[in-house]
Amino acid sequence: MLSQDELKTQVGQAALQYVVPGEIVGVGTGSTVNKFIEALASMKTQIKGAVSSSEASTARLKALGIPVFDANEVDELSVYIDGADEIDNQGCMIKGGGAALTREKIVAAQSRRFVCIADESKLVSVLGKFPLPVEVIPMSTRRVMRQFAAMGGAVTLRLRDGKPLVTDNGQHILDVTGLQIRDALAFESQVNQWPGVVTVGVFAHQRAQVCLLGTAQGVKTLNF
Ligand code: 5RP
Repeated sequence: MLSQDELKTQVGQAALQYVVPGEIVGVGTGSTVNKFIEALASMKTQIKGAVSSSEASTARLKALGIPVFDANEVDELSVYIDGADEIDNQGCMIKGGGAALTREKIVAAQSRRFVCIADESKLVSVLGKFPLPVEVIPMSTRRVMRQFAAMGGAVTLRLRDGKPLVTDNGQHILDVTGLQIRDALAFESQVNQWPGVVTVGVFAHQRAQVCLLGTAQGVKTLNF
């Protein structure tokens, strides 16, 4: 029986087949992506570099000698490789467990194809069991909390070392439980309109086209 770590390694390596030689690849954030970054080092002479979705991934890429480009230096990427906290059978996801959701959505939006890499525990029929991350501007926190409470959600402010976590963009993260997100597209559009919400961690407009799912039987490819 493979451990979760081994499943992540498998999908991280499998994602290399989607990297286009000679191009710049979009790189996400998280422990599964870290496996992909390690694997990508074996291809570093074949690619131009990466656009990264977080300071953490940027540091890892640079440490392995992979050039990192600013998102504004690149018009379009052929592929974005990232993990997910949950993915449904249409490729819609909850993301942001690592607090990088806003930059992840930006890089996903400039990519033609989103390849999600995940172990099989992430596949769900309805999004919402994993606490939904929402990046907010601090002065809107109370108001956004009340709006989620009115929807039936229970909201907590994410802390690090006893203080509100500060994202790479200088903002805070709310985590919302108790929601069942059945219409991910409508939900994402609705919450993104609330004043003070920087990004909601539902990725439906920027859903995955492919999911490489690590299972005990090997890597399964889901095409959406
Ligand atoms: C970070 C993310 C990650 O993709 C998500 O949290 C999955 O992480 P991991 O691969 O560590 O399970 O959205 O903001």
